[in-house]
Amino acid sequence: MWILGHRGASAAAPENTLAAFSLAMSQLATGVELDTYQVENNNVVIHDRWLNRTTNGKGMVTSHSLSQLRKLDAGHGEVIPLLGEVFTLMPPHAIINVEIKHLTDISLWLSAIHNDLSSSGFPTENVIVSSFNHRWLRHIKGAWPEVKIGALTATYPENGLGFANDLDAYSLHMALDVVDEYYVREARQAGLKVLVYTVDYPDDMLMLQAWGVDGIFTNVPDLARRTLLCDE
Ligand code: G3P
Ligand code: MG
Repeated sequence: MWILGHRGASAAAPENTLAAFSLAMSQLATGVELDTYQVENNNVVIHDRWLNRTTNGKGMVTSHSLSQLRKLDAGHGEVIPLLGEVFTLMPPHAIINVEIKHLTDISLWLSAIHNDLSSSGFPTENVIVSSFNHRWLRHIKGAWPEVKIGALTATYPENGLGFANDLDAYSLHMALDVVDEYYVREARQAGLKVLVYTVDYPDDMLMLQAWGVDGIFTNVPDLARRTLLCDE
C-alpha cells in the first residue's frame, strides 16, 4: 500500500515545505501530496487561500507577488516552495500528487508544470494531478493526455464512478469519512487506484489495507510505515 505524506510529513515538519517532503521520504513514504496556487506563471506550494495560518505573512496568497511570497517564513525558516523545487528535491521513484487549489490560466499552468518537469528531470509518470475542481482536471487531461488524473472528492459520489470515468482518471482520492468497502471494490474492479485521505490512526490504516485500498495520505508516514507491513 502506498504511503503518501500529506503536505509532506506534516505532523513533524512545517506542512508543504521542502523540509516536510524530505522528512516524508526519510520516513520511507512512497511519495507526497502537496497543494498548489498559481502565482505569476509559477506554482507555489501552500494549502490555504490565506497566508496567516502557515506563514508569518497576512492576507490572501493571490494578492501577493511571487517575490513577496518567497520572503515569508513558512515555519522553522522554510520558504514557501515552488513546485519545480519539489520536483528537483524528490527522488525519481517517489510519487508526487499535485493537488491544484488555485489556477488562473490553464495554458500557463500547463507550460509551467512542463517546464518544471523538464528542468528537474522528475518523471511525469510519477506525478498525479488532482483537484476538487473537476472542470480544471478535464481541461488539463484534454490538453495533456498522458498525465495521471486523480479524481478527488470529499463526498460520496452519487453517480458512482461516473465522475472518475468522465475525467479518464488514474486514481480516485476519497475522504476517509465517506469511503466504504463497497466503493473501494467497485473502483478497483474498474481499474482505478483508490487513495484515501487523511489517515493518521493505525486502526484506520489497517482497516483500509484490509479493504484493498491502494494508498493513504497521512501526516505521519513513519507511523504508517510501522503499522502497515508493506514495502512499496
Ligand atoms: O488531496 C487530498 C487532501 O489533501 C485534500 O484535502 O484540504 O487536505 O487539501 P486538503
Ligand atoms: Mg491537499
